[in-house]
Amino acid sequence: MDIYETMKHRRSIRSYRPEPVEEEKLNRILEAARLAPSAANRQPIYFVVIKDEKIKQQLKKAYNEEWFYTAPIIICACSLPEKAWKRSDGKNYADIDAAIAMDHLILAATAEGLATCWIAAFKVPLVKSILQLSPEIEPVAMTPVGYPLNVTEQTYRKPLEEIVKII
Ligand SMILES: Cc1cc2nc3c(=O)[nH]c(=O)nc-3n(C[C@H](O)[C@H](O)[C@H](O)COP(=O)(O)O)c2cc1C
Repeated sequence: MDIYETMKHRRSIRSYRPEPVEEEKLNRILEAARLAPSAANRQPIYFVVIKDEKIKQQLKKAYNEEWFYTAPIIICACSLPEKAWKRSDGKNYADIDAAIAMDHLILAATAEGLATCWIAAFKVPLVKSILQLSPEIEPVAMTPVGYPLNVTEQTYRKPLEEIVKII
């Protein structure tokens, strides 16, 4: 699958088969995240790979969707705002850097035949305490990683004319 096919193929998958993800695949997708660029190369990112069933059960308090826990692995992408580059107007790029790394991971997972789903609608203080994150680490997004049970249709995207201005 080339990168364009991978991008077309990716979906938010909200049902997973129980079989485990091969360690080599997990390592490759984490490596894809590691290779992501970041503002001023500060690399203010941190990933938590959750396999432990007890921790998954606890996470239900932070994100209460049964389907999310059908995947064998959950990955939480975090940022380190104190380490991140800040623009002269004060804008902190930590979350952007974390999102770029997470997108690398998600596209790599797609290329590996794995399914994912970006999740942001979780309770941050609970995720921080359940994952025992130190105070400077901020959870930005999570994704299940596993093999899809049902593959959904492509969702609508605005046409290019609506989102691009060529001047
Ligand atoms: C930053 C971000 C946060 C998201 N958070 C959630 C979420 O909390 N729950 C959820 O079910 N989907 C979430 N999604 C998935 C979007 O709903 C989905 O990407 C969008 O509807 C397009 O569908 P597609 O991913 O299948 O192309 C999120 C996506 C992104 C990029």
